[in-house]
Amino acid sequence: RIHPVILCGGSGTRLWPRSRKALPKPFLPLLGPLTLFQQGLDRTSDAQLFAPATVVAGKAHVAVIESQLGEAGEAALIVEPAARNTAPAIALAAHRLPSDAVMLVCPSDHYIADQEAFLSGVAKAAALAREGYLVAFGITPTRPETGYGYIECGDALGSGQRVARFVEKPDAERARAFLDSGDFVWNGGIFAFRAGDYLDELARHRPDMAAAVHAAVAAGRAVGQRFHPDAAAFAGITGESIDFAVMENTDRAAVVAADMGWSDIGDWSALMAARGVDDAGNALAGRADITGGSGVMVESDGPRVSVVGLSNIIVVVDGDEVLVTARDAAQDVGKLPGAISQ
Ligand code: GDD
Ligand code: MG
Repeated sequence: RIHPVILCGGSGTRLWPRSRKALPKPFLPLLGPLTLFQQGLDRTSDAQLFAPATVVAGKAHVAVIESQLGEAGEAALIVEPAARNTAPAIALAAHRLPSDAVMLVCPSDHYIADQEAFLSGVAKAAALAREGYLVAFGITPTRPETGYGYIECGDALGSGQRVARFVEKPDAERARAFLDSGDFVWNGGIFAFRAGDYLDELARHRPDMAAAVHAAVAAGRAVGQRFHPDAAAFAGITGESIDFAVMENTDRAAVVAADMGWSDIGDWSALMAARGVDDAGNALAGRADITGGSGVMVESDGPRVSVVGLSNIIVVVDGDEVLVTARDAAQDVGKLPGAISQ
């Protein structure tokens, strides 16, 4: 069986004011009745295919995670003493699994519309992972997004392709060139590999980090299903993502095509697209009256929002905070003082 590893760490500030430090994006029911975290558990809940999940998260979110586990109650929880980005977080999980276990590393804040396509991508990725590859999930790119990783696809390899080049978060000019070339796919942020292969590659490319994680696990303690790595050893790590630390450097990377209705719900505009719009072109949740405009998103947890003669704007009301943004500026919401402080 495949071992799902669910990473809960990002703050989701671009979805402020709904997403806040205490209850960030993964733990909100943004699309449907389940939270994105719960959808992630659900996606890997078929016990024929998947072992119980391992959730890696910070102390601040242990309570909300345990309250949202539901039927995934047997999941293991690794509590990070400090946030050091994804490369060490994944290494913690790898150490807690047998070295030949195939891990499926999943972000907790994605939306995947097509479960069948997801499972078919997992099957292809797992086959390559069993041959010793570190496998990424490739998404057909649609815009020169600079917040993603880009993968240049190389020679055919079993159910996928070799990675000729992995470039994390290129600048705008390179992103445009990659998109125009037609040779690149986006990295979906989901990975499959054997635990031992990941730890080997981490030790090769980031030996200090690998040694520190090893020490933090060796001196850690288990309390029931929770595991607490040693705080002193872990705090000394320089934070870095798997993309920069491992995927850009390893020569054992492969990619499988996985067009599965993927969205990382990066901002309000992406959430609007994932929700879909009504006949008037609007996406309304909560009390709202829109006249004389279209392309309006409203999300209100109480007050009625009335919009007259404005198009392509997003209005979010959450408790004592109100956000109004142009749709095409929604990625800048995370820079607002309110988003940074909450
Ligand atoms: N446990 C834990 N600890 N989880 C973390 C940490 C951490 O310190 N840091 C980030 N995460 C979690 C986030 O919650 C998210 O679910 C996932 O790991 C990815 O982290 P992000 O911070 O959201 O990464 P990104 O969006 O900048 O980039 C990654 O995802 C893109 C697709 O959405 C990269 O893999 C890109 O290459 C990729 O295109
Ligand atoms: Mg992300």
